[in-house]
Amino acid sequence: METKIRIAIQTKGRLNEDSVQLLKEAGIKMVSGKRKLISAAKNFPMEVLFLRDDDIPQSVADGLADIGIVGLNEVLEKKQNVNIAKELGFSRCRVSLAIPKSDEYTGLNYFESKKIATSYPVILQDFLTEKKIDAEIHEISGSVEIAPGIGLADAIFDIVSSGSTLVSNRLKEVEVVTPSEAVLVANPELSEEKQAILDELIFRIESVQRAEGKKYILLNAPNDKVDEIIALLPGMKSPTVLPLAEQGWSSVHSVLNENDFWEIIGKLKAAGAQGILTIPIEKMIM
Ligand code: PRP
Ligand code: ZN
Repeated sequence: METKIRIAIQTKGRLNEDSVQLLKEAGIKMVSGKRKLISAAKNFPMEVLFLRDDDIPQSVADGLADIGIVGLNEVLEKKQNVNIAKELGFSRCRVSLAIPKSDEYTGLNYFESKKIATSYPVILQDFLTEKKIDAEIHEISGSVEIAPGIGLADAIFDIVSSGSTLVSNRLKEVEVVTPSEAVLVANPELSEEKQAILDELIFRIESVQRAEGKKYILLNAPNDKVDEIIALLPGMKSPTVLPLAEQGWSSVHSVLNENDFWEIIGKLKAAGAQGILTIPIEKMIM
């Protein structure tokens, strides 16, 4: 039987959609079936197991799944024996300490003898121990942000993304303890066959990631301006220059960071470029 790799992803919640999207961009088609626990890929040796994110680190460490996509926050909290195979760059957030908005924040000593509600007691205790702060940790599994308002805690330690949960609960973020993002985790003892499948998956993910924020740019330039224009393009490698049918003109192709776009376009036009086109890039293979 063909070896398959089993990947655990979140059933629903902040990582689910982006995890499914990532597999899709890596060219992996699923037989779908949203409500199923496990789903086979059609064109890749993979099975997808849908779990609660809290359960993903352990299921990968135990080998129930070979690999998984989960927030770094869960990896740090669960302290399971998994390798971080790849940082995925989506679902970025931070795990932070927050206090009532009306309180004056005096620094870390604010938390001395305070009661802090959290779903991340392990990360929080490590932090408090390191900073030599003696506080009481009150572990709750959800809706942590309402704890101070109902008098259950003085402060909270939770995920902050947009910050709107804090605002609507009249809290303010005062210490970022750890940044987090989605990561691809792997069982440390994968068979050679499974490791090869994981390597192929990572190769595909990297090709997609490399293309992110990049645009393919095409423009026409008079031949005597080509060198000046090339100097403006911080391309991956040297740009492609092709002669145009019209005498004395060339077509220049390169890859551009989207962030540099507007700044460079102005300079390109000033240097004599015409007919500038940019095209999205799906994948870049190195
Ligand atoms: C987290 C966290 C906050 C919210 C913060 O919950 O517990 O409730 O996100 O996000 P914001 O800064 O964008 O408002 P999540 O949605 O991950 O679900 P959970 O309650 O299961 O942790
Ligand atoms: Zn929440």
